[in-house]
Amino acid sequence: MSTIDYSDKIPNNVNLSEDRTLQRALEQWQPNYLQWWGDMGPDGSQNFDVYLRTAVSVDPQGWAQFGHVKMPDYRWGIFLNAAEKERKIHFGDHKGEDAWQDVPGEYRANLRRIIVTQGDTEPASVEQQRHLGLTCPSQYDLRNLFQVNVEEGRHLWAMVYLLHKYFGRDGREEGEALLERRSGQQDNPRILQAFNEPTPDWLSFFMFTYFTDRDGKFQLCALAESSFDPLARTTKFMLTEEAHHMFVGESGISRVIQRTCQAMNELKTDDVTKLRAAGVIDLPTLQRYLNFHFSVTIDLFGADESSNAATFYSTGLKGRFEEGKRVDDHVLKGQTYKVLAVQGNQLIEREVPMLNALNEVLRDDYIKDSIGGVDRWNKVIEKAGIPFKLKTPSQGLPPQHRYPGWRQSVARRPCGERSRMESSG
Ligand SMILES: [Fe+2]
Ligand SMILES: [Fe+2]
Repeated sequence: MSTIDYSDKIPNNVNLSEDRTLQRALEQWQPNYLQWWGDMGPDGSQNFDVYLRTAVSVDPQGWAQFGHVKMPDYRWGIFLNAAEKERKIHFGDHKGEDAWQDVPGEYRANLRRIIVTQGDTEPASVEQQRHLGLTCPSQYDLRNLFQVNVEEGRHLWAMVYLLHKYFGRDGREEGEALLERRSGQQDNPRILQAFNEPTPDWLSFFMFTYFTDRDGKFQLCALAESSFDPLARTTKFMLTEEAHHMFVGESGISRVIQRTCQAMNELKTDDVTKLRAAGVIDLPTLQRYLNFHFSVTIDLFGADESSNAATFYSTGLKGRFEEGKRVDDHVLKGQTYKVLAVQGNQLIEREVPMLNALNEVLRDDYIKDSIGGVDRWNKVIEKAGIPFKLKTPSQGLPPQHRYPGWRQSVARRPCGERSRMESSG
């Protein structure tokens, strides 16, 4: 079951050949996907020979096989974690019931929306990063970029598989639409704002993989708890790939900082002009990049009070980060959570029903996790003996205050409007 059949046109571990209708539908989607990859995947660099890992099984020991492939020869497929025997729903109103192997009719629209919104981020990031192969600092970085790109492509496959298998004609239409939207395009943009921002340079790429791929981790972790078992199994396997994406970001920024500190010490200066002339990125510029990427990313978690968040949890569609490790009743009725609100010129803490604050709960978990890496970057600066500290912007402030250079296009949208919870998908 966990071994992937590469003799199939579409490598998979879901016995695709036994479901002819599904196989045919996916085989029809496949050339459109490859066309999209040709048009919107890495620009001008697809013929480079790179060393990539490809999934061959989902077992912890064997899921990644490394080999030299030219990018167009990479095989995208469908891989799910093995089913857990008699898995039960472990949160929300259906707690204790059997996990769903099919989509309950009453949750069909919401589940579709969740899957489409997740699916849309995957090709979006490939589009955002498509020019970076032409300016990569090293072969090592190129390999990392392409690894991230092909895996985001595979994550799109993962979501399209669910759409095709469980959502019939609507699902197939959504599968097509996922290949039609374009990051940053005026008429037909990607669903979430952070995925319409350009990633014009490698510092942006490292910040993106550190901060925005980490949003991916938290969203996938919440979906890995889902009562809809195929979604939980799919996202669990996606998470194993996601760890490397965040590593690329964290180590990339760390290398940039190291080089900057080295130049600062050699030249005995913190003068921005001199440092730039020496070919390094000054620390205040790093701080500004951090502010921007942190801000656009935390807005992905949605409004701090959201009735959708409550519905998604109570109906069992989306859990909390590490739901299973938490010690409470996993129903959360009658519980409260503190959120920050603006009153006049002041920030005040307000207690709101926990269920409605679940976006904020996930965002807070995310912030705790992302601060860890910022601390590690600060250690690099400290070790070099430089009195400078990178900070994460306060999440209590609206984006235009967190990030003074906040672009108009973003500021026009009310905070959280195009978030994962509120998007119309
Ligand atoms: Fe992804
Ligand atoms: Fe990723």
